[in-house]
Amino acid sequence: MEKNIWRLMLVALVAVGLSACSGDANANGGDEAADAAPAQAEVTAAPEAEMEMAEADAMPQELPEGVTEAMIEEGKGIYSGAGICMSCHGPAGEGIPNLGANLVDDEWIHIDGSYEQIVENIMSGVTAQESSSGVPMPAKGGTAITDDQVKAVAAYVWTLSQ
Ligand code: HEC
Repeated sequence: MEKNIWRLMLVALVAVGLSACSGDANANGGDEAADAAPAQAEVTAAPEAEMEMAEADAMPQELPEGVTEAMIEEGKGIYSGAGICMSCHGPAGEGIPNLGANLVDDEWIHIDGSYEQIVENIMSGVTAQESSSGVPMPAKGGTAITDDQVKAVAAYVWTLSQ
């Protein structure tokens, strides 16, 4: 009889002990999960925030100084309009053999491809002696476009090779 009571007490103690332990374990596990969740959120959120900042920083820097999106849009119209660039360089700037050079690749014959040099090239043109085909490019393509229009079409030409 005495033996049975001890056994019962032992079972009760073990049961209490177990439930206390598992209670603790749950509480701890819960705390860890709660701690881990915000930490993980921070880890995943941080690169996105950095990327957004990098993009925001990169956007204005991508365009050469003095060039705006509006100029590029205007220049696109001048390229196939008042500037008649397309008549020698092709509708998409792909070039026309023995006439205007390819403007979409990153190989340049007369300049280094920088926005400044594209402006200068359009302003002064290419002489027959300089031209690889012997065909000259008249200053401003032989048109009466303004200096601002030259800058705009140069901005557009600059984007073609990027
Ligand atoms: C009458 C034909 C003609 C017209 C119009 C013309 N170009 Fe050209 N362009 C040329 C020729 C020819 C070259 C020199 C190609 C060569 O050396 O092979 C040239 C060269 C260039 C280059 C230098 C390319 C390089 O690889 O160094 C740029 C930039 C350029 N033209 C832009 C323009 C723009 C912009 C317009 C419009 C405003 C224009 N051109 C109008 C014929 C023309």
